[in-house]
Amino acid sequence: MQDLFERVAETEELAPGAVLLRGFAVRHDRALLAAIEAVAAEAPFRRMTTPGGFEMSVAMTNCGAAGWITDRKSYRYTAEDPQNGRPWPAMPALFSALARDAAAQAGYAGFLPDAGLINRYEPGTRLSPHQDRDEASYDHPIVSVSLGVPATFQFGGPKRADPMKKVSLQHGDVVVWGGPSRLAHHGVLTLKSGEHPLTGCRRFNLTLRKAL
Ligand code: SIN
Ligand code: FE2
Repeated sequence: MQDLFERVAETEELAPGAVLLRGFAVRHDRALLAAIEAVAAEAPFRRMTTPGGFEMSVAMTNCGAAGWITDRKSYRYTAEDPQNGRPWPAMPALFSALARDAAAQAGYAGFLPDAGLINRYEPGTRLSPHQDRDEASYDHPIVSVSLGVPATFQFGGPKRADPMKKVSLQHGDVVVWGGPSRLAHHGVLTLKSGEHPLTGCRRFNLTLRKAL
């Protein structure tokens, strides 16, 4: 697919190597949400348990060759959905095109994701600060797409103590981080109640990575 996602005029640097592309995905919002729904029909959203024994408030599912999971054993990528033993649903072509085009605009040409984590937030859910570090290599960026109700995203640095910037992520916004920011800590503050015409009270986040 070519030229599916146009360059956006408005970009904000969050940190060296980390860029916010405002509204980058909005033109394809309905198609993205339909693709999320199709993935979830095969691999339903579920709340997973951390190795420490806590149930995550955010519900998740995956598509692509590798899916991110957590259970009492570890955080890791698997080829199959542990809920049904089948391979994760294929990565929709639209997700790969979005990841490629957003990464290119952020300065990371030639990005091809093999892991699509889909997070579903409802009012009161949050994702505490963490690093994305279960991937085989940190040479590739992370592409993160926001849909639905806005959320406050925190973005810091490679050290846990590094100060965190807060930025509101709106429907259609895309954040790309790599290079010097690849291991930056990031999280999502408790989702406030809100209403979006396409998602109701929910926020969806699509995190596209190269995990294998
Ligand atoms: C994540 O870190 O996996 C998700 C970030 C977000 O929901 O914006
Ligand atoms: Fe993350």
